[in-house]
Amino acid sequence: MGRIAYVNGRYVAHVDARVHVEDRGYQFADGVYEVIAVVGGHLIDEELHFERLNWSLSELRIAWPMEPAALRVVMREVIRRNRLGGLASLYLQITRGVAPRNHAFPSGVRPAVVMTARTLPPYSHDAARRGVRVITVADDRWRRPDIKSVSLLPNILAKQRAVEADAYEAWFVDDNGMITEATASNAWIVTPGGELVTRQSGRAILNGITRRRVMALAGEHGLHVVERPFSLDEAKAAAEAFISATTSWVKAVVQIDGQTVGAGLPGPLTRRLLSLYTAFAGFPQKDDV
Ligand code: PDD
Repeated sequence: MGRIAYVNGRYVAHVDARVHVEDRGYQFADGVYEVIAVVGGHLIDEELHFERLNWSLSELRIAWPMEPAALRVVMREVIRRNRLGGLASLYLQITRGVAPRNHAFPSGVRPAVVMTARTLPPYSHDAARRGVRVITVADDRWRRPDIKSVSLLPNILAKQRAVEADAYEAWFVDDNGMITEATASNAWIVTPGGELVTRQSGRAILNGITRRRVMALAGEHGLHVVERPFSLDEAKAAAEAFISATTSWVKAVVQIDGQTVGAGLPGPLTRRLLSLYTAFAGFPQKDDV
C-alpha cells in the first residue's frame, strides 16, 4: 500500500493528492504549516505544535478549518493509514482557502487543509558523531518569521546556497551582525565560558518546538539556557554550536563559513542535549552519540 495524503476532507493516494489552482496557498503563500515528528506512531510535542499553529492562524486571521479535536483525529488517521512506525514526520498545511484571485481576504471561504506523512531514514549515530557544516547569509526575510507561514522563498534560496557550498544549513545574520536562526532550524552556541545561548523568542525567529523542548530538558537537568542574540563572530569563536528542529533533532555544527567550531567535533553539551532529546522523544539511542 502506498502513501496516503489528506486533502480537504478526503484521504487520497499521495500520487493523486491535488489542490485547486486558485488555492491561496498556491497563489499567495497565504497559509501556515506545521511539521511534527512521529516516533513509533506517536506525535512528539503535539500540544506545543497546536499552540503554535493557533498562533500562526490567528496572526494571519485564518480560521480553524475544523475543530482542533477533529484535526487531531485526522492526524491520527493519516498516521494509521500510512502505517508510520520508526521515525516519520507529519506535514500539515492550512491555507485561507480557494477563491478567485484577489489580494484581499475572500469572504465565506473555508480554509483548505492538506496533510502528508513520510517515513524518515533511521537515525544515524555516525552522522551525529560527525556534526554538520553551516554557512551564513543575510537575513532578508519579512519581519514576521515567528509566524510559521508557507512563504519560505528566502529560506529555500539560502538552503540551496548551503547545499551548493556542501553545507547542511545556512544561518541567517541580521543587519546588526547577529544570528537569528537557520533556514529550517534554530541556532545555538555554547560560549568558551560554558554559557548555553540561543536567540530569544520574539519576532525575529520562529519559536521552534524543538528549541522549546531542549530548553525545558536543559532546565530539568540543571543546565541554564541564556536567551539572547549572539553575533557571527561570537559563534565562530564558540566552544560548541548546534541547531535544533523537528526531524533534525539536535545536530552539532562543527564548521561555520569554513571556520572550525571548537574542536571540530560535537561538543559535550551538544551531545548531552541530543541524548536528552532522543530519550524524551523515545527513539533508539546509544548514550555515546
Ligand atoms: N522547520 N526555524 C525555522 C525557520 C524553521 O522552518 C524551523 C522548522 C525551525 C525549528 O522549529 P521546530 O523545532 O518547531 O521544527 C526554526 C520545519 C521542520 C520545516 O520547515 O520543515
